[in-house]
Amino acid sequence: MVLGLSGGIACYKAAELVRELIKAGATVQVVMTEAAEQFITAVTLQALSNRTVFTSQWDAREANNMAHINLTRGADAVLVAPASADFIAKLLHGRADDLLSLLCLARPIERCPLLVAPAMNREMWAHPATQRNVAQLKADGATVLGPGSGDQACGEIGDGRMLEPAELRDELIAFFQPKGLAGRRVLVTAGPTFEPIDPVRGLTNRSSGKMGFAIARAAAEAGAEVTLIAGPVALATPRHVRRVDVTTAAEMHAAALAAAIDSDVFVATAAVADWRVASVAGAKIKKADGRSVPVLELVENPDILAAVARLPKRPYCVGFAAESENLLAYAREKLVKKNVPLIIANIGGATFGEDDNAITLVDAAGDHEWPRAGKLALARRLVAEIAARLEREPTAGRP
Ligand code: C5P
Repeated sequence: MVLGLSGGIACYKAAELVRELIKAGATVQVVMTEAAEQFITAVTLQALSNRTVFTSQWDAREANNMAHINLTRGADAVLVAPASADFIAKLLHGRADDLLSLLCLARPIERCPLLVAPAMNREMWAHPATQRNVAQLKADGATVLGPGSGDQACGEIGDGRMLEPAELRDELIAFFQPKGLAGRRVLVTAGPTFEPIDPVRGLTNRSSGKMGFAIARAAAEAGAEVTLIAGPVALATPRHVRRVDVTTAAEMHAAALAAAIDSDVFVATAAVADWRVASVAGAKIKKADGRSVPVLELVENPDILAAVARLPKRPYCVGFAAESENLLAYAREKLVKKNVPLIIANIGGATFGEDDNAITLVDAAGDHEWPRAGKLALARRLVAEIAARLEREPTAGRP
């Protein structure tokens, strides 16, 4: 890919961005404007990208002296980061008086998409001229990433910061994922629940939430509008995902039912506690020094997946079965008992907290074992599978 830098203080982040893109497997050809060279040197970017950097349309190193043509013919995308207000204005008018704007104009528009990551002062960003230019740039087919919001180099606070390098990397990865769930609404539950015993203690389990968060991310990458209802976990919210934090099964139940009503898909990955304490102590239960130990009375929590599957206009419901034994038999039992079209079976102890997983899809037609893979890779494959099922049978799984 071509990474273009125009002039702005956010150029300092471009060094890290090159590293992130290369770590993610990209080949990065850096092109800089003259203004960008005021902020960071070509030497730095050459060293990090392991390729000579191009800065001029008069660069005689190219045999045909046509860097503006050659650089994009093999590229999968052009990302301009940072994209200054001035550079955006140039792009919009099809101006081409430096190598970067020239190659943006000369790129094969169908084959080589243009992405821009604006970076500028908040007043410049909010200015009607910039907003008009950005809207037109989008109408011309460019994808605008960000900008973010927060502290600015000038000391002001507001919109206009370039997205962080890791965010830009993830945006670019997402850009290239198939959009099988475009226009769909997807609801995901993830993580454990925590059922209090008293103000300091509770019942919970070892679910990390990683599988559910990966599914939420993959669904968002596939173009869905995603709501993620998360129990207590220490994970960052995937980009473009609406997150609702809950603690107990009762809270997760209420949040999930409210969101399920207008969802097309529900993926229940949460390891919901089966029981809660019948009456939560208002104060910390004290040790009675060897005399007697407290006895906890438990009551059953509502089954969220089964409740969503009972809705008259239910979404396509996908459940998870985490078991320690008799995995496929238990999974098939859940398929019937919860009345859902698809259960994903995995071994509980072997997946909780891990970055990879081995799963088997259990549906009315049979069992389909998928090879062990990273949770994100599995999540992307699962999202594609759900998209295909929705496509094949739009009311799939409806009673
Ligand atoms: O019944 P069991 O807990 O084994 O079923 C697991 C599946 O059901 C998972 O998809 C889980 O998210 C969902 N579930 C639920 N509400 C519960 C218990 C489980 O949604 N109270």
